Order: sequence, then C-alpha cells, then structure tokens
Amino acid sequence: MFCLQTRHLVYRYRHDVVLDGIDLQVPQRSIYGFLGPNGAGKTTTLRLVLGLLTKQQGEIEIFGKRLQDDRCAILRRVGSMIESPSFYDHLSARENLLLLQRILHCPRQRIDDVLALVGLADVGRKRTAQFSLGMKQRLGIAIAILHEPEFVILDEPTNGLDPGGIVEMRELLQRLNRERGVTLLVSSHLLAEVEKLATHVGILHRGRLRFQGTLRELCERQRGLQSTALRTGDDRAAATILMQHGCRARSTERGLLLPALDDVAVAAIVRDVVRAGIGVHEVAAVRGDLESIFMGMVEDVGVKEAA
Ligand SMILES: Nc1ncnc2c1ncn2[C@@H]1O[C@H](COP(=O)(O)OP(=O)(O)OP(=O)(O)O)[C@@H](O)[C@H]1O
Ligand SMILES: [Mg+2]
Repeated sequence: MFCLQTRHLVYRYRHDVVLDGIDLQVPQRSIYGFLGPNGAGKTTTLRLVLGLLTKQQGEIEIFGKRLQDDRCAILRRVGSMIESPSFYDHLSARENLLLLQRILHCPRQRIDDVLALVGLADVGRKRTAQFSLGMKQRLGIAIAILHEPEFVILDEPTNGLDPGGIVEMRELLQRLNRERGVTLLVSSHLLAEVEKLATHVGILHRGRLRFQGTLRELCERQRGLQSTALRTGDDRAAATILMQHGCRARSTERGLLLPALDDVAVAAIVRDVVRAGIGVHEVAAVRGDLESIFMGMVEDVGVKEAA
C-alpha cells in the first residue's frame, strides 16, 4: 500500500514543462528520499502533492484517495515544511505552537511532546527571532508534526545546517519514522545525505523520474556506475592520451574522472601516461556519486528509467 502515489504528473510554468509524467510511489512507513539537482522539479512536485499548486495533468492519491476528492480530510493527516519554515518572529517557539494548537484543535500536551522531540524543550520560551538556523529548522519540524500527521513532507530540511545539525536532523527524522510510524517524503540534492536516511529513493532529473526503488537497489546500480579517478602531474596532457584510448575524461577536484575501467585498460593508460613523461600521482576507484549517476542516466549507461 502506498502512502502517496502520483500518476503521470505533468506541470508547466507557462510553456516550460517542469514535470514530465512523474509516477511517484511512496510506500507506507518508508523514508522516501526525493533526490534531484537544483531546478529538477522537487519543490514543484511537493507543492502539487500538498495542493499548494493547482494540478494541471495527472493524478495524486494520498492514503489511497484522490486528493481532489477529499482534500481537507486528507491534508489533515499530512504535515509539511516546504523550503524555509515560517513563523512569528516576535513569539517564542512555545507561543508559536500554542497558536497553531488552537487552530488545529490538538491536545495542549502535544506542545511539550513536540518541543522535546525536536530538542527545543529548553528554549521553548526564547523568541524565535533569536533562533539559529538549525533551531528554526527544528521548530519547522515541530510545527509540521504538531497535529500528529501520519505522513510528513519536508523540502530540503537540512538546508543551511552545519554537519552536526544535519546529523541531529537525520536522527530526529529516523526517530519519527521508527517510534511513531510516520511516513516521510524528504527532498534533498545530496545523495550522501539521502543514503544515510532513506529506505526508498526517487531521483528526479529535468522533470523526469530517472530512478525509483529501494536504497539497496540504488546502491546496486551505483556499484555498476563506479568510475576511475586519475590524478597526474599534467591532467590536460593526460586527457589527450586518454582520448587516444577512446576514453573521455571529465576534469574534477579529484583529478580526471573516467568511466569504470578494467585492470588491463587502467594498466595500459597508466603506462602510456608515464611514457609521455607525465607523473601519475593517484589511480582510484570512485563510487558513483550523484553527478556520475546523472551522467550515466543522460548517457544511458546501463540505467533504465523508472517505469
Ligand atoms: N514560479 C515559477 N515560475 C516559473 N518557473 C518556475 C517557478 N518556480 C519554479 N520554476 C522553474 O521550475 C523548475 C523546477 O523548479 P523547482 O523549484 O521545482 O526545482 P527544485 O528541484 O526544487 O530545485 P532546488 O533544488 O533549487 O530547490 C526550475 O526550472 C524553475 O526555474
Ligand atoms: Mg526546491
């Protein structure tokens, strides 16, 4: 059973097709990492799912019901934070939550529960204008979960957080999923982050879902997309030699990035580079990062698009 299912979701801003037939399937009780580079269409998708943008084409089902048929009842069971959280700056976290608690008619006890859950119990009375970015993000989560939603949608919740804040956010989301059974749909542009958090992954690229499956399936695919990094004394000259081997290299921070090569090919390339008087400083196998996965998709190297 899917908590969220979309069928052939298409969205255009004027004449630009931003989403081109998205079939999302978010299993119940999963943590679904919605990955994609800037401008891929993540926020647009999440806004559509929450009814914040008017649907143009396709279907959206949440809890097995069409959003348009029972929008209020469905969205009452959903919590969200899209882009930056917003609240009253001159009020404390507790006062912000109190206002919402009255609007949402949830038990007052929930305020202490969520403040404790997001680690803001000690600063519940401080004005939010004085909050750090991480504290604001955590209050955003507290607001999203105040009414005990079964399904929580978060758009880049770790945006702007330092490494410690990212770890805390991850632990908080995993606790919500594990202890409260909440299904999470979390967007991010960082594969490394999603790998540590998600049970399921969807990869969006230029408005199309390029991969959808479990994290394990993605890892298997990544292994197939391993590449080779070559660091030399003169990468530009080395790239010319690589071309002679029919091997197109990409210049990166780690040196030249080549498609995954077998041992014989690596040995032949290194031999020719050294023969040309260029020092070889490092040859390493690199696990496919998000960029190389995308490149693999664009070049259609053994990656099937999601059905
Ligand atoms: N209000 C708008 N009017 C016109 N085009 C828009 C509007 N909002 C977004 N777009 C375009 O739609 C595309 C997808 O944007 P979207 O914000 O959904 O991407 P994203 O994956 O969330 O990116 P990011 O990682 O930067 O948040 C982009 O090309 C963007 O320029
Ligand atoms: Mg976005």
